[in-house]
Amino acid sequence: MKFFIDTANLEQIHKAQALGILDGVTTNPSLIAKEGVKGKNEIFKHYKAICDIVSGPVSAEVFATDYDGMIREGEELYQIDPAKITIKLPCTEDGIRAVKYFSDKGYRTNCTLIFTVGQALLAAKAGATYCSPFIGRLDDIGEDGIQLIAQIVETYSYYGFGTQVLAASIRHTNHILRCIEVGADVATCPLKAILGLVEHPLTTKGLEIFCKAADSMK
Ligand code: E4P
Repeated sequence: MKFFIDTANLEQIHKAQALGILDGVTTNPSLIAKEGVKGKNEIFKHYKAICDIVSGPVSAEVFATDYDGMIREGEELYQIDPAKITIKLPCTEDGIRAVKYFSDKGYRTNCTLIFTVGQALLAAKAGATYCSPFIGRLDDIGEDGIQLIAQIVETYSYYGFGTQVLAASIRHTNHILRCIEVGADVATCPLKAILGLVEHPLTTKGLEIFCKAADSMK
């Protein structure tokens, strides 16, 4: 399973990249706004800074909600770094049309705000590189986000779609572990959730014992 980091924070992206296990980055308008960047120039510079840190794909979401606007913005975003930028488009009628337009051009796309298998199927038929089902937001309303990931993985495999299931809206480490179990292609995670994978009390305790033994031999 690939690991993406779900943030626009440069410090956190640097930290995750330094771990040596980072495969890419996802952002959205809320995450960009959180960094305090404003205006097209500043926002584009920020995306460029992210692309310069990582070696993998960087999802940049269009702000437009109409087809023509999405095409215009998507084209501009892609030019920031054609080797890395993935155009992130919402799963709406106009968004699916835009996914099809960009996938026909050979651009990477990420179809976002996916909450049903039907939406995931449309994203795949339009040729999306990634489809982003939101686990946490489904869990928040009493539904089962992981079950949706499992259903989409099974559906894509049944029909042989190449679209990758990018599990999004991950809130904690256990979500990542469950994504591994159900075969998500990618998990995009907050840094804290990724670092949670490293920790185990027996690792900490075992290391203390080894360190004492090492000290006794100095
Ligand atoms: C990433 O692609 C999504 O935009 C993000 O994971 C949404 O997460 P949230 O539900 O925690 O806002």
